[in-house]
Amino acid sequence: MLLRLALLLILLAPCTFSLNQEGLILQQLKLVFDDPDNFFSDWNDRDITPCKWRGVTCDSLTHSVTSLDFSNANLAGPFPASLLCRLRNLTSISFYNNSVNSTLPEADLPLCRTIVHLDLAQNLLTGKLPSSVAELPNLKYLDLTGNNFSGEIPGSFGTFRQLEVLGLVENLIEGAVPAFLGNISTLKQLNLSYNPFFPGRIPPELGNLTNLETLWLTQCNLIGEIPDSLGRLSRLTDLDLALNALDGPIPSSLTELTSVVQIELYNNSLTGELPPNGWSKMTALRRVDASMNGLTGTIPTELCELPLESLNLYENSFEGELPESIANSTNLYELRIFQNNLTGALPKDLGKNSPLLWLDVSSNNFSGEIPANLCEKGVLLELLMIDNSFSGEIPASLGQCQSLNRVRLANNNFSGAVPDGLWGLPHVSLLDLKSNSFSGGIAKTIASASNLSSLILSSNKFSGDIPEEIGFLETLLEFSGNDNVFSGSLPGSIVNLGQLGRLDLHDNALSGELPKGIHSWKKLNELNLANNDLSGNIPPQIGSLSVLNYLDLSGNRLTGKIPNELQNLKLNQLNLSNNRLSGDIPPLYAKVMYRNSFLGNPGLCGDIDGLCDGRSDRNNGYAWLLKSIFVLAGVVLIMGVLWFYWKYRNFRKVKLAIDKSKWTLMSFHKLGFSEYEILDALDEDNVIGSGSSGKVYKVGLSSGEAVAVKKLWASTKIADESSDVEKCNVQDDGFAAEVETLGKIRHKNIVKLWCCCTTRDCKLLVYEYMPNGSLGDLLHSNKSGLLDWPIRYKIAMDAAEGLAYLHHDCVPPIVHRDVKSNNILLDGDFGARVADFGVAKVVDTNGKGTKSMSVIAGSCGYIAPEYAYTLRVNEKSDIYSFGVVILELITGRLPVDPEYGEKDLVKWVCTTLDQKGIDHVIDTKLDSWFKEEICKVLNVGLLCTSPLPINRPSMRRVVKMLQEVGGGNQLKNGRTKDGKLTPYYYEDASDQGSVA
Ligand SMILES: *[C@@H]1O[C@H](CO)[C@@H](O)[C@H](O)[C@H]1NC(C)=O
Ligand SMILES: *[C@@H]1O[C@H](CO)[C@@H](O)[C@H](O)[C@H]1NC(C)=O
Repeated sequence: MLLRLALLLILLAPCTFSLNQEGLILQQLKLVFDDPDNFFSDWNDRDITPCKWRGVTCDSLTHSVTSLDFSNANLAGPFPASLLCRLRNLTSISFYNNSVNSTLPEADLPLCRTIVHLDLAQNLLTGKLPSSVAELPNLKYLDLTGNNFSGEIPGSFGTFRQLEVLGLVENLIEGAVPAFLGNISTLKQLNLSYNPFFPGRIPPELGNLTNLETLWLTQCNLIGEIPDSLGRLSRLTDLDLALNALDGPIPSSLTELTSVVQIELYNNSLTGELPPNGWSKMTALRRVDASMNGLTGTIPTELCELPLESLNLYENSFEGELPESIANSTNLYELRIFQNNLTGALPKDLGKNSPLLWLDVSSNNFSGEIPANLCEKGVLLELLMIDNSFSGEIPASLGQCQSLNRVRLANNNFSGAVPDGLWGLPHVSLLDLKSNSFSGGIAKTIASASNLSSLILSSNKFSGDIPEEIGFLETLLEFSGNDNVFSGSLPGSIVNLGQLGRLDLHDNALSGELPKGIHSWKKLNELNLANNDLSGNIPPQIGSLSVLNYLDLSGNRLTGKIPNELQNLKLNQLNLSNNRLSGDIPPLYAKVMYRNSFLGNPGLCGDIDGLCDGRSDRNNGYAWLLKSIFVLAGVVLIMGVLWFYWKYRNFRKVKLAIDKSKWTLMSFHKLGFSEYEILDALDEDNVIGSGSSGKVYKVGLSSGEAVAVKKLWASTKIADESSDVEKCNVQDDGFAAEVETLGKIRHKNIVKLWCCCTTRDCKLLVYEYMPNGSLGDLLHSNKSGLLDWPIRYKIAMDAAEGLAYLHHDCVPPIVHRDVKSNNILLDGDFGARVADFGVAKVVDTNGKGTKSMSVIAGSCGYIAPEYAYTLRVNEKSDIYSFGVVILELITGRLPVDPEYGEKDLVKWVCTTLDQKGIDHVIDTKLDSWFKEEICKVLNVGLLCTSPLPINRPSMRRVVKMLQEVGGGNQLKNGRTKDGKLTPYYYEDASDQGSVA
C-alpha cells in the first residue's frame, strides 16, 4: 500500500511543477490584447517556462525572458508597460506593426531598466513623446515611427546615454527640429522625416553627431541654408533633406562626406552651382538626387567620374554638356536630367558599360545622335528624349532592345527609316515619334508589338501602306499618323482594334473605301480621316459607335447619301465638308448651326440656307474674305505687340502720370477709398503679378486695408506719341456691359469687384485683396503642407458654391471659361473665392446654352476634351475644369507634368488608380485619417472629369455631393503654422499653360 502511494507520488511529481513567475506575467499580458489571429495560441499555461512560446526568447542558462517579438502579430490594445517592466532580464521588445493604441506611460517606463531595444513602429500610439524614456540607462534603439505622437520633442531627448537609433518618422510632432539632439553623441541613425515641424533651420549642432550614419530629415518643414557643419559627419552614408524649403547654395563642405552613399536634396529651393570639385573624395557615393531645385551651372565632371548608380538632376537650370565620363559608371541604371538647359551631344558610350534602365533627357537643348549602345546590357526600359534637337537615325541596336517599354522621341530632328525591329518590340506600350522627319513605312514586324497602346507618328514623312499586321495590336488605344504621306487603302484588319479610342490619319494620301465592319470600334471616341483621297460611301454602321464624339471625314471623295444613322451619335465635331456627298442631310443636322459641316458637297441638299444652290462661287468668295480678314488681323496684332513692347521698355521707371480729370468711376459697392488714391499708387514697385490680360498691383489704402488693381493691357490702338505714359486701350464695346454684370455679383465665394475706373482708353479693375494668394501657387509650393485635408475640403466646397452661383443663380448664366487652381484665391482664413473672369462670357441662352467662341480660352490640363477641338463652350466645360482642381487638391499634383508622360492629371489619376490603387493617388502630405472622405471627394472629381459632357453632374449637384461627404468634417479654424505665406499673385502669372 505504502509503496503504491510512493509510486503514485513519483508519477504525479512532474505535474506539481507549475508555470514560473515570468510565464505568469506573460499570461497576464496575453489578456491585455485583442488577438484576432491567435498569435498567442501556443502560450500554454501548463508549460513550466514560457521559453518555447511564440515570440518569446529566453536566456539559455537561466531560462529568464530576454526578448519579446510580437512584430506583425495584429494585436490590439494598450502598451502594457507595468507588466513588461516586471520581466527583470528583458532587453528587447518589438511590437512592430500592430495596433497598440494607448499613450506611453511616463511613470512606468523608467522601470524597464534593462531595455536595450524598443521597437514600437507602425502602431496607433498617441499623446506626447514620454520624456522619461531618456532615463533608460541601456537604451540603444528607439523606433516610434508611424504612430500618432504629437507635441514637441522633449528636452530630455538630448540626454540619452547610449542611444544609437532614434526613429520618429511619420508622426504628428511639432515644434522645431531641436538643437539638443546634437548632444546624443552615440547616435548612428536619426530619422525624423514626415513630421509637421514648424518652419525652422537645420540645427548646425547636428554636425556634432560624429558617429551618425543616417540623417533623414525629409519633409520636416526645414528652411534656410544647409549648415556647413554637416560636412563634419564623416561616417554619414545616407543624407536625405528632400521635400523641404531649404534655400541658398549646397555647401562645398558636403564633399567632405567621404562615406556617403546617397544624397537626397530634391524638391527644395536650393540655388547656385554644385560644388565643382571635391567629389572625387566621395568614393562611396552611388546615388544623388538634387532635382526640382533652382540649381545652375554645369554638371561637375568630377561627380560624373564616380561610379554612380543613379543621378537625378531634373527640373533645374543646368547648362553645358553632360560629362563624357558618366558613361564609365559601370553601375549606372538611372539618369534623369530632363528640363534643364543642357547642350551638346550625349556621351557616345552611354549605356555601353552599365545596366541602364531609365534615361530621361527630355526638354533640354541636346543635339547629335542617339548613342548606339544605350541598350548594350539589354535592360533599358524607358528612352525619353522629347523636345530636344537630336538628329540622325535611330540606331539599329535599339530595334533589338527587347526590354524597352516607353520610347518617346517627339519634337526632334530625327530622320531616316525606323529600324524594323523597333516597330515590333514586345513590351513597348508607347511609341511616340511625333514631329520629326522620319521616312519609310511601318514594318510588318509591328505584328509582334503585343503591348502597344499608343502609336504616335504624326507630322513626319512616313509613307507607304499601313500594313494589315496593325490589326493584331489588340491593346492599341491610339493611332495618330496624321500629316504624313501614307497611301493605299486602310487595311481591312484595322476594324479588329476593339480598344481603339482615337484614330487620326488626317492629311495623308490614303485612298480606297472605308473598311467594312467598323461597328467593332466600340471604344472609338475620335475618328479623323480628313484630307485624304478616300472614296465610296459613309458606312451606316458608323451610327453604332456609341462613344464617338469627333468625326472628321472632310476633304475626301466620299459619295452617296449621308446615313441617317449618324443621328444616333452625340457628336461634338462633325465635318463632312469638301466631299462629293449628295441627297438629303439627316434632319437632326439640317440646321444652320451645322452648315460648315457640309460645305463643299455640290450634290448635298438640306434645309440649310445657301448649301445647295450656287454656293460654290460664294464659298470661294467667303474663303477669300476670311483669309484677308485673318491676314489683316495678324498684321494688326503683330504691330500691336511690337508697339507695346517698345512702349513697355520705356515704361519701367516712369510713374503713371495719368490725367486724373478724365477718369470715370463705375463702382459696384460702397467704397472706402477714392479712385485718386488708387491711381497714385500704381507704381511698378507694387506689381504683384502680370499675365496675358494685364498687370496686377497691390495697393495699400490709407484706411490700412489693401486692394488688388488689375490694369488691362493696351490693345491695338496706337498711342499718343508725345506721351511717356502707358496707355491701356480697351476697345471692346461689350466690356462695360460685362464688367457691370460681374460687378453685380454678390457671393461670398466670388472675389469682389469693388469698382472699375475708365478713361476713353484705359481701364482699371479694382478687386478685393486676397492675402493668401492663389490655391495653385500655394498647393504647388513648399507651403502646401499648410493645406491639410479639412482646409482642402473647404476650398473645394467654397469654389463649388461660387461656380454653382455663376451657373445657376445668375441670369443669364455665366460660364467662367478658365477655372483653374490659379484662379481660386484664398483669404486670410483660407476661405476660397473664384476669381478672374478675364475670359468669362455671359452664355447666350438662345443658342441652347452653347456658343462657339472665337478664341480658345482656358489653360492646359483643365480644358474639357470636347472644348479643345470644338470650341463649343457651356457650363459642362467649367465642371470638367473644376474636376481637375479637385484632383489637384487630392493628389497635390500639377494638372500637366512631364512625369505623366503622354497623359494629363485626369488620365494619370485613372491609370494610377487602376494599376496601383488609391494610396498612390492621394497626396502623401494628407493625413490617412481622412482617407475615406478623400475617396468620396475623389469620386466627385472623377465624375466631373467624365470624357462625355453628359455624364458630368451639374455644379449644383456637385455642391450637394460635397456636402454629403463632409458631414462630420469640422474645419480646424485658422490653423496656420506659418505666418509668412507666399505673396499674393493674381492668376495669369504663369501663362505658359494657356493654349493659344
Ligand atoms: C536574470 O538573470 C540572472 C542571471 O543573468 C539570474 O540570476 C536571475 O535569476 C534572472 N532573473 C529572473 C527574474 O529570472
Ligand atoms: C484599443 O484597442 C482595443 C482593442 O481593439 C479597443 O477595445 C479599445 O477601445 C482601443 N482603445 C482606444 C483608445 O482606441
